[in-house]
Amino acid sequence: MQSKNKTINAAITAVGMYVPDKVMDNKYFESIVDTNDEWIITRTGIKERRLMENGATSDMAAFAIQDLMKTSSLKPEEIDVIIVATVTPDMLFPATACLVQEKIGAKNAWGFDLSAACSGFLFALQTGASLVESGSYKKVVVVGSDKMSAITDYTDRNTCILFGDAASAVLLEPSEDLNYGIKDSLLYVDGSGRDALNMKAGGSLNPASHDTIDKKWHYIYQDGKAVFKVAVKGMADVSYEIMEKNGLKSEDVAYLVPHQANLRIIDATAERMGISKEKVMINIDKYGNTTAATIPLCLTEYYRAGKVKKGDNLILAAFGAGYTWGSIYLTWGLD
Ligand code: COA
Repeated sequence: MQSKNKTINAAITAVGMYVPDKVMDNKYFESIVDTNDEWIITRTGIKERRLMENGATSDMAAFAIQDLMKTSSLKPEEIDVIIVATVTPDMLFPATACLVQEKIGAKNAWGFDLSAACSGFLFALQTGASLVESGSYKKVVVVGSDKMSAITDYTDRNTCILFGDAASAVLLEPSEDLNYGIKDSLLYVDGSGRDALNMKAGGSLNPASHDTIDKKWHYIYQDGKAVFKVAVKGMADVSYEIMEKNGLKSEDVAYLVPHQANLRIIDATAERMGISKEKVMINIDKYGNTTAATIPLCLTEYYRAGKVKKGDNLILAAFGAGYTWGSIYLTWGLD
């Protein structure tokens, strides 16, 4: 929601990322399931993903925030809030945010986890922005971190080729110049999507048991075709809607920053927005779907490559389990 009488915007003032060293390329998947490089590239756009061999989601999140701190003036004790978007928390509780707080030494912070699957970063960014815009908090770290390998069934060719491990973080701070920062968001949930994409066991509905393990309910389940259909429409519609709402034409948008689940979903979204391929941030080929990490990972890589300039209008868009989906419009404020 865009507030009419805003006096400050929340703006991204630093970025950071972490991807594990270990690469799993399509050839590797040819050796473990009945698939091939050509099918994976043409149906998804993915060539490689990363695997976190030692460590958990909180480790990746901490590394990403440490990278952010190394490349900015932020000190750990200055952080007010840590929001961790994830569907692969280290444990159901305590929150991963607590573990991250301790690992980075953010001794004055509070924080929490936010679960919105592939839309997690967008939901967390809007939440963090609201905390900043309220005037109560000045330095909010939003990190998307997912160790998808922890919940992936590497005997299921329908899902195992899709996902990878990564984390990426942004710092939100107040900007009195309303030309910059987060300007609008359109976010949605629809629980009727629960049967198409989920991890059934380990929660209060199906506590972990021998039976849930036998049924492989501790892994991602996805009805790919069903999700594909709604994801294409959901992500394209919401991105178009936020442009219309804010009077943006395609030439006003410097980049679409889409969740990286499938290149065909990304292409359909760009087409609906009238945006050419050069103006779409893409790194799905290198990392696959890293769930809450995809969007900040794109932002960090493109910014560090000098491709995003101060004043650029960006449309962030995602679709994920729940269903959850949405779009955020922001103007880049970093030099
Ligand atoms: N290698 C080779 N063949 C595979 C395969 C793989 N890794 N995975 C599935 N197939 C087969 C299927 O078994 C099916 O074979 P069949 O026709 O004999 O049954 C065939 O390929 C086509 O499967 P289909 O599911 O129609 O493929 P698709 O074009 O829909 O692509 C996805 C599959 C998963 C890539 C695609 O559906 C998708 O991206 N879904 C949405 C993902 C998403 O956005 N998730 C939300 C955020 S997490």
